[in-house]
Amino acid sequence: MGFKFISAEEAAGLIKNDDVIGFSGFTAAGCPKAVTIALAKKAEEEHAKGKPFKVGMYTGASTGDSVDGQLARANAIKFRSPYQSNGDLRKALNAHDAHYFDLHLSEIQQYLRYGFLPRPNIAIIEAADVTEDGKITLTSAVGIAPTIVQLADIVIVELNKFHPKELSGIHDIYQPLDPPYRREIPVYKPSDRIGVPYVQVDPKKIVGIVETNLPNEIGAFVPTDEVTDQIGKNVADFFAAEMKAGRIPASFLPVQSGVGNVANAVLGAMGLSKEIPAFEVYTEVIQDSVIALMKENRVKFASGCSLTLSAEALSEVYGNLELYKQKLVLRPQEISNSPEVARRLGLIAINTALEADIFGNINSTHVVGTKMMNGIGGSADFCRNAYLSVFTTPSVAKDGKISAIVPMVSHVDHSEHSVKILITEFGVADLRGLAPIQRAESIIENCVHPEYKKLLSDYLKLGVKGHTPQHLETCFAFHNAFNKTGDMRNVDWSLCK
Ligand code: COA
Repeated sequence: MGFKFISAEEAAGLIKNDDVIGFSGFTAAGCPKAVTIALAKKAEEEHAKGKPFKVGMYTGASTGDSVDGQLARANAIKFRSPYQSNGDLRKALNAHDAHYFDLHLSEIQQYLRYGFLPRPNIAIIEAADVTEDGKITLTSAVGIAPTIVQLADIVIVELNKFHPKELSGIHDIYQPLDPPYRREIPVYKPSDRIGVPYVQVDPKKIVGIVETNLPNEIGAFVPTDEVTDQIGKNVADFFAAEMKAGRIPASFLPVQSGVGNVANAVLGAMGLSKEIPAFEVYTEVIQDSVIALMKENRVKFASGCSLTLSAEALSEVYGNLELYKQKLVLRPQEISNSPEVARRLGLIAINTALEADIFGNINSTHVVGTKMMNGIGGSADFCRNAYLSVFTTPSVAKDGKISAIVPMVSHVDHSEHSVKILITEFGVADLRGLAPIQRAESIIENCVHPEYKKLLSDYLKLGVKGHTPQHLETCFAFHNAFNKTGDMRNVDWSLCK
């Protein structure tokens, strides 16, 4: 191979203060794991000399600790987009040490091409293989890789032997033209392949290859519990009833399922349902439950942007790669999360809320209104454009001290106009066709934890008239009670008047 092999430290040496870096990967799958550690060390050394050292960072979504964790702890992040879930980065951005721009995941690639954000001048790409003429076989995710190699001046490749070269064929790389030349994205069913199996980069841009042999940094999922199992069962029963009513076709529709423990449990429960037929998945993150359901022939095909799998599930896929290459496709996130494709395929979208209000607005991102949790991710790409959009959440958090359902959400990510169904462990509120007051009654009746039902019913009786009977002086009383006393159950409406 004509490329130069370099160490992670040499690669980090090519990166300067104020550079803007685009990273391959999506979640901890497929992102670099060596150059970033050397870069964090370099930043600390520069800081020790009293010199500034911070970089701008674009990723597919969240990353592994070797990217966000290392660089956040080294205080080396100037800005970051579009999604993260690392504890140390969360601290840094909530303290304004790193500026975070939370963006719909389908939008980041075109945002960068349109020049709406500072251009990434460096791309760091994890690869399973790279050819002399610059054809890169990515590893277990695609993310924004095709766009950043196109925009960057230089490309550093982490050639990670942990991932087999035989992954070639699992990826489907396609970039739409930008307006005014854009045509339809020709995905008509989840298994359609519309591009090529590699990312093409001008080989002259590849300044060095860093060899690694490192697994993805993905932890095991938290096992399901009584609450998540019940939420999953409620979701599955609801879909079965929709099929009976003729509102979901008997062949079912492709499913998009969000990230996290609740989403993993929901998909598992749908697989167990006797009434839901084997289905296809068109989503961003392919989690363990999808692979488990494929083994049982409950999921027929899955299209996604990443294999966010535990070590066991990934070794199941890599051990039977020829079989799984027929059942899986990995796409760039502007295709996996495309609003156009979501609307065309008629996705059934299931995402998780941090907080919902009684009128159907959803907060997916901000803890008690101010602290960023992770980001909006792809939830709005799907929610707004789905055939049927469902949000799930456990009815309470932190041992009941927080009600996930409040009078008014402390931050809005998905408005009442996009949210169709809300499901907790207690039941289902079908919000379609309901006026705000009816939505409130349905959510209180079906979804709210018993300890909060009376408080929320009483809120509705505060004497406010109007289409949406919010009581503006007290609508954040739940949050204020939590901030002051540590428990939302301490709300006293009489004190609020
Ligand atoms: N207020 C404060 N904290 C809350 C809360 C609330 N209303 N609701 C939940 N939490 C806390 C939980 O206690 C838990 O805290 P811990 O980490 O200290 O245990 C944490 O938030 C996560 O809750 P959990 O119930 O385990 O949910 P999850 O793992 O399923 O994640 C989201 C939920 C909302 C954070 C996650 O789905 C997310 O980031 N969503 C936005 C992006 C998205 O939807 N992407 C999918 C598109 S395909």
